[in-house]
Amino acid sequence: MSDIFERLMQHSGPIGQHRERAHGYFAFPKLEGDISNRMIFRGKEKIIWSLNNYIGLANHPEVREADAEAAARFGLAAPMGARMMSGNTNYHEQLEAELAAFVKKEDAILLNYGYQGMSSIIDAICERHDIVVYDAESHACIIDGLRLHQGHRYVYQHNNLDNLEKQLQRATALIEKQKSGGILVITEGVFGMAGDQGKLKEIAALKKKYSFRLLVDDAHGFGTLGNSGAGAGEEQGIQDEIDLYFSTFAKSMASIGAFLAGPKNIIDYIRYNTRSQIFAKTLPLPLVVGNLKRLALLKSKPELRKKLWQNVHRLQQGLREKGFDIGNTNSPVTPIYMKGGVEEATAMVMDLRENFHIFCSIVVYPVIPKGHIIYRLIPTATHTDEDIDATLRAFEETKKKLDAGEYKVEAIPDMATA
Ligand SMILES: Cc1ncc(COP(=O)(O)O)c(C=O)c1O
Repeated sequence: MSDIFERLMQHSGPIGQHRERAHGYFAFPKLEGDISNRMIFRGKEKIIWSLNNYIGLANHPEVREADAEAAARFGLAAPMGARMMSGNTNYHEQLEAELAAFVKKEDAILLNYGYQGMSSIIDAICERHDIVVYDAESHACIIDGLRLHQGHRYVYQHNNLDNLEKQLQRATALIEKQKSGGILVITEGVFGMAGDQGKLKEIAALKKKYSFRLLVDDAHGFGTLGNSGAGAGEEQGIQDEIDLYFSTFAKSMASIGAFLAGPKNIIDYIRYNTRSQIFAKTLPLPLVVGNLKRLALLKSKPELRKKLWQNVHRLQQGLREKGFDIGNTNSPVTPIYMKGGVEEATAMVMDLRENFHIFCSIVVYPVIPKGHIIYRLIPTATHTDEDIDATLRAFEETKKKLDAGEYKVEAIPDMATA
């Protein structure tokens, strides 16, 4: 018999193992000041590239006013209870109706958080004879939702249509053998790490050959893609083919909560059968009212999206011109791929932060293979040309140092706070 707590102290986990040197700097940093292109980190102003505040709503004066008014009027407690029991309001229903109309679906259901909402939806709509076919780079909320699924799940290589077809053939054959069950394909509108869009148009075209329903997590596409900002389905001209459209409010809407939109009878089924919503308190009214305001601005101010895309183009073109590898992104998410160890990557990030005043996220082993580094930049409508040009210069100079081996250090620099 071993003591669980003792084990936890011995193996702190893939990221937790760096806690002693990283806490408060590389992990759990504290950004202070108004959410914007520039914020304060450890007492100094930095250009911030880590926030999904795509169209700049987080600190928009009309949003701040609506949030403050709603908090003063309703308080954070209201309404009490789950939607089904005592937590429903006209505002919740109004937001659902407006979201459904915006993404061109019959109905929508609000979810308290994207992560638990998505996980729970998979559980609500699939039974043990159903087969889920999903993209290998799906977000953790999809992967964890699949842990709840009692039936088979077949993964296909990221955005690989041949491989998807193979999995659809496998799934179809098994369902015919079982004589029951259906297929749910799950993918994303935009993959949040690499920034490439899911091949929704091509996937939807497979519906002519195979029988399946399509669920799309469009967390990063909602508000950034499409003519009206309605997301990757609109951008690729196949919104009608998406059976269930999901997005969180945590990105373009700069808020909390999420929604799922689809046919009225199916959303109604989900409303009455999604455990994470039935057994948890509903979204507080200030958030619902704040989200109504955000949605109104997202719809009525296309200039915010236009500014976002100007910045995306300036940043991505600048990086490409300087010879950086930014992969296949076709969204605002901007990865920069480099080679190096975890220690080198942290030393480079430190140089970027301390000497160039650039704050961005890095992804290293074990999230990605050993020897690779991904810097992930999120341009927003709040960034300026000056921010972008300073960042391009900073990456040019630090990349030279990386290539010259100047960041080779024995260990992650000790930058931890207590
Ligand atoms: C693709 C994707 N789906 C779902 C989520 C989870 O959303 P939430 O933050 O609302 O839990 C995220 C991250 O926020 C995401 O990037």
